[in-house]
Amino acid sequence: MQEINQDLKEILVTTEQIQFRVKQLADQISNDYADVEQLYLIGILKGAFMFLADLSRHLKIPNVVDFMAVSSYGKTATTGAVRLIMDLRAPIDGKHAIIVEDIADSGKTLKYLYQVLQWHNPASLKTCVLLRKKKDNLDIPINYLGFDIPNAWVVGYGLDYADRYRTLPYIAELKPEIYA
Ligand code: IMP
Ligand code: MG
Repeated sequence: MQEINQDLKEILVTTEQIQFRVKQLADQISNDYADVEQLYLIGILKGAFMFLADLSRHLKIPNVVDFMAVSSYGKTATTGAVRLIMDLRAPIDGKHAIIVEDIADSGKTLKYLYQVLQWHNPASLKTCVLLRKKKDNLDIPINYLGFDIPNAWVVGYGLDYADRYRTLPYIAELKPEIYA
């Protein structure tokens, strides 16, 4: 049993569960894009960096990684306004692309990214999201989903609270008194 940081309430997804599921998602994507010459994985910084690294290493098809960054929230509460702070290095016109995101809560970030990337006219655009907090009301479908989780602030495996806890190898719920 891994030692649990005193700021954490509980581990929601273990390292083993993450690794098993990421491999499954990579297998599924490898099958679905078997005939595609090159798949573009668009990782959303900073939260998706670990997920993207593991996912891309398990893919059995040629892939290119690129990154975008959007303005984050304040610490935990959404402002509703999403702002692009880093764009792709190269356009993805005519390419097959997947947005790789750490978590969908309200779905606003995913919707924004989806719209921005659609303007590029990719050959296809799908979404791969590790964690989902709410099952309904997402405007943009999640094509590849890791896990459904409860509506709490989670950290680890790339996800942070005020830039902390990112390098934990599991996904854990933060104690509410830490982020309240
Ligand atoms: P949405 O726009 O409400 O779906 O929020 C999605 C974004 O908020 C994600 O890209 C994360 O960066 C951040 N976020 C939402 N919930 C959490 C959480 O529980 N832990 C860490 N980051 C989160
Ligand atoms: Mg994010």
